[in-house]
Amino acid sequence: MDNKKLAFFIDLKPAVEDFSTAVAHGLSQSPKELPCRFFYDEAGSALFEKICETEEYYVTRAEKALLTRIAPEIAAIAGPGCSVVELGTGSNAKIRILLNALAAPSAYIPIDISGVHLLAAATEIAVEFPDVAVGAICGDFVGMTALPEGVNTGSGPKLGFFPGSTIGNFEPDVAREFLSRTRGVLGPGDGFVIGVDLKKDVTRLTAAYNDAAGYTAAFNKNVLVRMRNELGVAIDLDQFEHMAFFNEAKSRVEMHLRSLRTQDIALGSQTFHLAKNEMIHTENSCKYTVEDFKVLSEQAGFDPIEVWTDERHDFSIHYLRTPG
Ligand code: TRP
Repeated sequence: MDNKKLAFFIDLKPAVEDFSTAVAHGLSQSPKELPCRFFYDEAGSALFEKICETEEYYVTRAEKALLTRIAPEIAAIAGPGCSVVELGTGSNAKIRILLNALAAPSAYIPIDISGVHLLAAATEIAVEFPDVAVGAICGDFVGMTALPEGVNTGSGPKLGFFPGSTIGNFEPDVAREFLSRTRGVLGPGDGFVIGVDLKKDVTRLTAAYNDAAGYTAAFNKNVLVRMRNELGVAIDLDQFEHMAFFNEAKSRVEMHLRSLRTQDIALGSQTFHLAKNEMIHTENSCKYTVEDFKVLSEQAGFDPIEVWTDERHDFSIHYLRTPG
């Protein structure tokens, strides 16, 4: 792999948070938690791809179908010559749909914390779209308030792209602050296309995070696997159970790991005690109504321009704009 196909590759050298420190911190909380950003190592990312293919996980399918249908409308609003700035990189399937629909997009700039994955994904797009200048930024888009100095995004307008309902993995207050900061990554009058999963029948929501094949369970437990492999923590995976349920009051699916017996987790010189049935909170996936998300985006300083949902009303894509 070389990066000669890319217009630039900027490595902000994102501080890789020490896994061991984060685990110790999380297990010191009450209730205990483990940070979900550690789900996505190579094995975790492969498991997530599998989740996306399961019958139960409607999210990816619904978003792709919706995006395919409305991409021409997005293109009409965005206008020609856009520079697309994507927050995170996935399988490239969604960005392909968008770039194919846009009129003469001038640049594609993905930002991702995982440099290896970013370089591979960006290079793939650069090869497929030779007329688009592809430049990648390795960094943490969550804390970003502006694009790094010297990034040339061309003369056209910027178009932010944030699919996958990743916004749902932040709690609403954090999501609002994050959106507000993201206005700085874009410029005045720029567009922002964001995928947001919708609140729906609890049975379907719960099933989406409890697939029968067990990929979500394995994904959730991957953080334990990493603790075992990377931190040398003696953990019996069979003594933990994957739990995912809908918290109605907070309108979110919560992921937990339940301890099936009393057990101790020894990490370096520290020992963390788990009672039987004690839960370790690993992830939230907030579900919005179209109206609630619109309000949230306005509170974050965006103007809502357009919103689309699929026929089943499973998923929404919002077109927001920064005030010009
Ligand atoms: N953004 C995805 C979502 O909230 C992430 C996700 C899907 C996830 N399945 C998961 C996170 C299972 C943790 C566990 O839908």
